[in-house]
Amino acid sequence: MLLSKNIALVGFMTAGKTQVGERLSVRTGLPFRDVDRLVEEVAKAPVQRIFETLGEPWFRQIESRILSELCAGSGQIIGCGGGTILRPENRAVLRDRCVTFWLRVSVAYVRTRLEEPGTPQRPLMAGRDLDLLIPELLRQREPLYAEADEVIETDGRTVDDVAEEIVARLGFTT
Ligand code: S3P
Repeated sequence: MLLSKNIALVGFMTAGKTQVGERLSVRTGLPFRDVDRLVEEVAKAPVQRIFETLGEPWFRQIESRILSELCAGSGQIIGCGGGTILRPENRAVLRDRCVTFWLRVSVAYVRTRLEEPGTPQRPLMAGRDLDLLIPELLRQREPLYAEADEVIETDGRTVDDVAEEIVARLGFTT
């Protein structure tokens, strides 16, 4: 598949950006790059520990650097972190260099996913009242996610199903 831009997946924590990105990579043959994983490689530490030791501002700075480096290239699937859209410069680079898909999830779905055994801990959620925090973060962020080119309703759908919808919307056939 020849692309002059990249394909970026944005959306709230637990929307399945990483799993859908990996599946899309298999489906299209395009490489998958996960922004969180690349920040972890720079810090040589998991996201949770980066927030605890180096702090969120450090994380956000490296996140922006990695996104802009990735976006200098083309033909990749980029899995963003849930907060990558917060910085205006990140949204600008996504707009210029990517076809962006918002994997949209509801408050109820996020709550269920976060409570499933095996779901990784999110530092932003640590010790917080999720009944207040999730709706508040979604309220702040949804207008920013909505800048994406395409919206995919993701609640309760399988990774394959979501990936196939993206493939279809891209007009990719095989
Ligand atoms: C964050 C989401 C996380 C990770 C970090 C901050 C956020 O990514 O980047 O914990 O601000 O929503 P996932 O959406 O992949 O969990």
